[in-house]
Amino acid sequence: KRPAGAPDKALAKPVTKVGIIGAGLMASQFALLFVRRLQVPVVITDLDQARVDKGLDYIRGEIATLLSKGRISPDESNRLNALIHGTTDKAEFNDADWVIEAVFEELGVKQDVFAEIEKHVSETAVLATNTSSLSVEQIGAKLAHPERLVGFHFFNPVAVMPLVEVVNAPATDEATLSTAMVTAAKLKKNAVITRDTPGFVVNRILAKVLGEAMHAVDTGTSFEVMNRALDPFGLPMTPFELLELVGLKVGAHVLDTHHAAFPDRFFESENLHGLAEHGKIFDRDGKGKITGFDKKAVAIV
Ligand code: 3HC
Repeated sequence: KRPAGAPDKALAKPVTKVGIIGAGLMASQFALLFVRRLQVPVVITDLDQARVDKGLDYIRGEIATLLSKGRISPDESNRLNALIHGTTDKAEFNDADWVIEAVFEELGVKQDVFAEIEKHVSETAVLATNTSSLSVEQIGAKLAHPERLVGFHFFNPVAVMPLVEVVNAPATDEATLSTAMVTAAKLKKNAVITRDTPGFVVNRILAKVLGEAMHAVDTGTSFEVMNRALDPFGLPMTPFELLELVGLKVGAHVLDTHHAAFPDRFFESENLHGLAEHGKIFDRDGKGKITGFDKKAVAIV
């Protein structure tokens, strides 16, 4: 496998239509980014129409917010709304040249999603996964053409966080890598090419921080003491606020993946799984401001 230097930009394939699999929060956030920055048709899909509609509502709501803040013109708003489309019919992906997924973080689910999508897309379409920490090589295990699969990992909130990790799996070919780098630049993100290793670069470090924070709670330090102690450290968010931002289930999954890969270096947290089922750590007011700790969450710990 070649070293992960800058790929030849001339090999990048044009992206004239984007397909997005999954209409959850992460997928909806980057659907907006793709339509806004590439100005091409963007089709989002999910298991059922209700999920698709929820994603579309979020995107249209964000377009309305951009309009009300004066960040886009009424013409631009109309154009973006016309370019974004939702469906449960994957046949609409047949002329997409970039298809990216953000479905549930489970290897088998992602493998099946790509095996199915490969039946619909053209031979030249590039496939991308937004996995947080799974192996891109394994995600592509059921693909006939794994050389066209690349990791393309966004951070939450997508509109604000400047980084995309472009994961160079062993099979990824240079044209795919080049398309990913050129696409990231068009999205106005800073892209780094990473190895296909658990957590890539950022989540490997983040898993350490979040895992240590949960371990401190697991072993008897209260959420409140931890949160108050870490708040003045100049972090934009404490580890627990960050866990809520990325989603407690996603956070638990990231920690589990790291524990499985490096059991001597990463903790697994029973409490985090309990919290993930419960859904939250903090109480918040109607505007999302933290008002205290959720009593049931504290009881779980
Ligand atoms: N969507 C769109 N825009 C958002 C947003 C969202 N969800 N959340 C905040 N913003 C925007 C606001 O609109 C505002 O923009 P403006 O100044 O142009 O109006 C700007 O961000 C700042 O927001 P606020 O003033 O409301 O709040 P803060 O200054 O506290 O910033 C934050 C909020 C940017 C989320 C900041 O707390 C932060 O950077 N937190 C850390 C986030 C982080 O580390 N993310 C990585 C998580 S790891 C991950 O995603 C990987 C995964 O695989 C696990």
